[in-house]
Amino acid sequence: MKVAIIGVGKIGYAILKGVKSLNAEIIGTGRSEITIERIKKEGVEATKDNDYAVRKSEIVILAVKPQHFNSVLREVSKTAWNGKKIVSIMAGIKISTLVRLTGAKVYRAMPNINAIVGKATTALAEEKDEEIEKIFKTLGSVYWVSEELLDAWTAIIGSGPAFIAEIIDAFALGAVACGMPRDLAYEAILDMVEGTVTTLKREKTHPVLLRDQVTTPAGTTIRGLMTMESEGIKSAIIKTIEAAYQRSATIGKEIDKMFENTE
Ligand SMILES: NC(=O)c1ccc[n+]([C@@H]2O[C@H](COP(=O)([O-])OP(=O)(O)OC[C@H]3O[C@@H](n4cnc5c(N)ncnc54)[C@H](OP(=O)(O)O)[C@@H]3O)[C@@H](O)[C@H]2O)c1
Repeated sequence: MKVAIIGVGKIGYAILKGVKSLNAEIIGTGRSEITIERIKKEGVEATKDNDYAVRKSEIVILAVKPQHFNSVLREVSKTAWNGKKIVSIMAGIKISTLVRLTGAKVYRAMPNINAIVGKATTALAEEKDEEIEKIFKTLGSVYWVSEELLDAWTAIIGSGPAFIAEIIDAFALGAVACGMPRDLAYEAILDMVEGTVTTLKREKTHPVLLRDQVTTPAGTTIRGLMTMESEGIKSAIIKTIEAAYQRSATIGKEIDKMFENTE
């Protein structure tokens, strides 16, 4: 497998580390010396020449920011894309736009920040391809979805780590309010969250059933749940995700429009 990673930034670097474990032939690109040195340090071929990198590979992973994709298009000659499989992790640019611009077979991937610890949750669109699935499985779990679900994915799975982090921080503040030392609270809360997820996954329990198991009559949990209910926590979280989804759809349209007149 010959893989080019165009733009080895934060997410490109996580992908590079993952692809390395597949013993693939890799070539990474960047603009600055810092990026080039970082790629070389991994024992991987590095270049600023995107045209050369695309020509040399079978699979091309586009990991630049969408607003920088125009410069990549200017640097890579049209014929270089011929017969390549392209995987774009750039938010917003549609498969149909990338097909029009490159004439190649195009996939989109939407990993999340957890790629840095091999625990990403990646959506791949659209047609199943074993080689591409293999690459993204090195970053964590993989789900094949239709392209129209990518905005929802961005809101739930892309922004999700930030929302969960915010909830964990609220738990820690609650612990401090009850007199628990912050560091102890933080560690214990992370273990509790991890344990809850493991229970839900392993026991295949619906969250509502788990909640009811913990909620004894006239106990402490029901008092907390009553407060959550009166404060509208559930509705706030649903609205949070819906707002992020709407924003992703709006940005996506704006980004894709940037390429309307690009040949
Ligand atoms: N970060 C995430 O968790 C995440 C998750 C899902 C999707 N994404 C998507 O991934 C893409 C990259 O995000 P990021 O957070 O990794 O951004 P980033 O850290 O800024 O990385 C982008 C990289 O692209 C390089 N670059 C820019 N123009 C280039 C060109 N013409 N040729 C070669 N390399 C070029 C930059 O290199 P220099 O630094 O050398 O200029 C930089 O290293 C975005 O489209 C984003 O939507 C990110």
